[in-house]
Amino acid sequence: MYPHTAFTGFRGKRLHLGVSGSVAVVKSLELMRALAKTGVHTSATLTSGAQRFITPLAFEALGAAPVYTSMDNTESSIFGHLEPGQDAHVFAVAPATANILAKIAHGIADDMLSCQALAFNGPMVLAPAMNPRMWNAAATRENWQKLKDRGVICIEPTCGEMACGEDGKGRFPDVESISLTILRALSTQDLAGKNVLITLGPTREYFDAVRFWSNPSSGTMGAAIAVAAWLRGANVTAVCGPTNVWLPEGITRVDVGTAREMFDATTALWPEADIACLSAAVADYRPVPYGTGKFKKEGSAGLEVAFEQNPDILYTLGQNKKDGQRLIGFAAEASDLEANAAGKLTRKNLDMIVGNDVSRPDSGFGTPTNAVVIHDVTGATEAWDPMSKADVAWRIWDWMLAL
Ligand code: C5P
Repeated sequence: MYPHTAFTGFRGKRLHLGVSGSVAVVKSLELMRALAKTGVHTSATLTSGAQRFITPLAFEALGAAPVYTSMDNTESSIFGHLEPGQDAHVFAVAPATANILAKIAHGIADDMLSCQALAFNGPMVLAPAMNPRMWNAAATRENWQKLKDRGVICIEPTCGEMACGEDGKGRFPDVESISLTILRALSTQDLAGKNVLITLGPTREYFDAVRFWSNPSSGTMGAAIAVAAWLRGANVTAVCGPTNVWLPEGITRVDVGTAREMFDATTALWPEADIACLSAAVADYRPVPYGTGKFKKEGSAGLEVAFEQNPDILYTLGQNKKDGQRLIGFAAEASDLEANAAGKLTRKNLDMIVGNDVSRPDSGFGTPTNAVVIHDVTGATEAWDPMSKADVAWRIWDWMLAL
């Protein structure tokens, strides 16, 4: 799990995880662990095929309860095949073989997992893993389409070399994507239908062909805000400065380099946005470039750099804010946090500002946690104890939705 996906607010949410026979079964343990960290409780069913690769004990040891293994499993009640349908909020099958996809698509109920799937009528997530020829087979293609048409949340397998040595499509999707897709299915969709625009990461302001002026922003805080909004149902576009922060495929990513590129991308997207949250650490100034090519120390009298001001993206959005649009800014401050944050809220015409104290060791650039103070347009303010950036992001959306 990345720091920007380390949400911990899913206590009380219950997942039923079906595991079918594939060499990828070990990854389902990883998936369970990632979800357990968020607070999700998992119950599981292993098909007989899965049990040839792994034992139920491995799932029990990581906290899955109950773990079903067959229809005549004496440890579960005689109604075990109906229990996930009554208890679980989401039903996932990961890894899902061609066989279980076919059974779910056609309503075949001849073992514990297929009976439980048929008796479940909530959100279902499928993450397949199989040989590329099995994946490409006409029967599997039809079944997959049938499942998608029925509204099942279908995660495409990935391409690459398979355990069998063949190359092609059919690899188990990455655990982070599956875990977030499950969290999305478990989340209240209180941002559904909203277009959310985020800026994140640093900007790079080039002095010559290879050297730039920048800052150590990792993009973690903005990525957490983008992922949290996506989990809650928003259509999210993230304008990213140079950072390799991972984002799920469901988020539209626009990569930019300089503050002016970020300005152009963000101002172009703002008219269609319902809410924008600008968390990027934009360079306020850019060096005036040294001619063209690369500056050479040989034969030069020394290096002197002049700077010119970059446009303020947040300010510009605030000046062009229409009725109903909401704007959130950040204030990274090393002193007078409260006063500076409150001042920016008014000056930049924001609805909410998140001030973070970058002088603390547990807050600001490159840390997994943040200690922030919130100010909003109604005058309400609150200081939050340090918590993971993912949890800060979740609470920012709670606050925004209550405004
Ligand atoms: O005024 P200051 O730079 O401290 O404001 C920080 C806020 O403004 C952040 O939300 C940041 O993303 C945004 N900002 C911007 N364009 C700039 C400078 C800052 O959007 N050129």
